[in-house]
Formats: sequence, C-alpha cells, structure tokens
Amino acid sequence: MTICILLLKILAILFILFFSKIIIISIFFYREIQAARAKDPAAKSFLEVLLLYQGLHALISHRIAHFFYKLKLFFLARLISQFSRHLTGIEIHPGAQIGKGLFIDHGMGVVVGETAIIGDNVLLYQGVTLGGTGLEKGKRHPTIGNNVVIGTGAKVLGNITVGDNSYIGANAVVIKDVPPNSTVVGVPGRITKQDGKKIDISLDHIHVLDPIMQNIEELEKRIDKMEREG
Ligand SMILES: CC(C)(COP(=O)(O)OP(=O)(O)OC[C@H]1O[C@@H](n2cnc3c(N)ncnc32)[C@H](O)[C@@H]1OP(=O)(O)O)[C@@H](O)C(=O)NCCC(=O)NCCS
Repeated sequence: MTICILLLKILAILFILFFSKIIIISIFFYREIQAARAKDPAAKSFLEVLLLYQGLHALISHRIAHFFYKLKLFFLARLISQFSRHLTGIEIHPGAQIGKGLFIDHGMGVVVGETAIIGDNVLLYQGVTLGGTGLEKGKRHPTIGNNVVIGTGAKVLGNITVGDNSYIGANAVVIKDVPPNSTVVGVPGRITKQDGKKIDISLDHIHVLDPIMQNIEELEKRIDKMEREG
C-alpha cells in the first residue's frame, strides 16, 4: 500500500513538472510557436508544435547554450548544443545570435555557425547552412535580416548580409551580399526579383551575382559581333 502511495506521489510530481515545463516554454517561446503555426500549413495545433517540432526544441536548447556561452562556459554551452544536435539533427553553434520568431521547418541538416546573426521572423528549411568560407577568424558567418526565408539546402557562406524580406531559393549558394526585398536562386546565387519586380539578367548588370553568366553573356556578344562582321 505504501509503495502504491509513493508511486502515485512520484507520478504526481512528474506530472506537475511536465506541465510547469510546458507552461514556461509556451510563455517564453510563444512567438516561435505562433510562427511555426503561421508558416507551416501542416501544423495543426499549438500543442503539436510545442511537443513535436524539433526546430522549436533546437531553439530552446540554443537559448540555454547561448546563455552559458555568454558566461564564457564554452564547454558546457557546446555540450548542450551537441546534445541537441543528436536529438534534433539541427546544429546551432552556441555563439550564434538569433532573433525572435525563428522557425526551422523539418530542420534535419541545418547548420548555423558561431558568428552567424539571424534577425526576427526568419524561416529556415532543412539542409540550410549559414557557414564560413574558410579558416578565417572573427566574424565569418552571414548576417540574416528580418523576415528572410532560406529555402531547403541553400548555403549562405561568409561574412555577408542578406537584406530584410529576402528569399533565398532552394539549393542556392550565396556568397555575396543580398539587398533587401530580393529573391536569389542558383549557384552562385543570382538575383531574379527585387522589390517585387522580376530582374532580366540579360539586361541587368548591377544585380548579377554570377560571374559564369557574365562570361557567357560576354562571349555571346563577341560571337554576335563576329557573325555580323563576318
Ligand atoms: C526561389 C523561389 C522562392 C521562387 O521564387 P519566385 O520569385 O516565385 O520565382 P519564379 O518561380 O518566378 O522563378 C524565377 C526563375 O528562377 C528559377 N528558379 C526558381 N527557383 C529556383 C531554384 N530554387 N533554383 C534555381 N532556379 C530557380 C525559375 O526557374 C525561374 O527561371 P526563369 O526566369 O529562367 O524561368 C522558389 O522556387 C524556391 O526555391 N522556394 C524554396 C521553397 C523551399 O525550400 N521549400 C521547402 C519545402 S519542404
């Protein structure tokens, strides 16, 4: 009988702890949970996002790891982020600075480097890398503005800035600054839309980020000229 009462007490304590944790997370991560609900049509309820979305869990771990990182407890910070990485498949370095309302959809394979800065209301899909380009020290990872969406598999590399409200297409490789309100696709990334207007890369030479395309255009012009002259 006493064992039954003891078990019931333990269960009650676990239940209370679980609910307290849920309430605390709901309060501190309300904006992130709402972001997931707004940006993922498959998200059916607040509770589903809270309990089952690994993007949210990675972010909760990151907030704790970042707290210890700022206290210069680097090993503990890294331990938490690595543990979270094993659970969620999302690797966020504890040094990364992340704004409010980040939603990491699906998440698996996302990597965020130590000196990356992410603004508010950003959406990252699976396989996104915010990485460095070499062995340089100091600020070597990108700065992502507010309301940016980075498509699945995209790599944003180096100490570059992606302006507010920009969209990086799936699998793009971005190695240069992106102005605000732009859409970038391809390898290396080129701007296809800015301020809501489509950019015709054959006419535009300001927004082209692709040196290969520039060479091809140059060759085309020379061939045209030779054909006209010949
Ligand atoms: C870039 C993206 C946002 C489209 O933006 P858009 O402004 O509507 O662009 P459009 O569809 O008008 O395409 C513009 C041009 O870019 C090309 N394009 C679009 N997406 C591209 C991509 N990811 N990679 C390479 N080229 C791409 C189009 O073929 C088109 O080329 P064209 O002008 O020669 O015909 C979208 O294609 C994308 O990549 N979204 C990512 C979504 C994602 O990751 N989802 C994950 C769900 S799990």
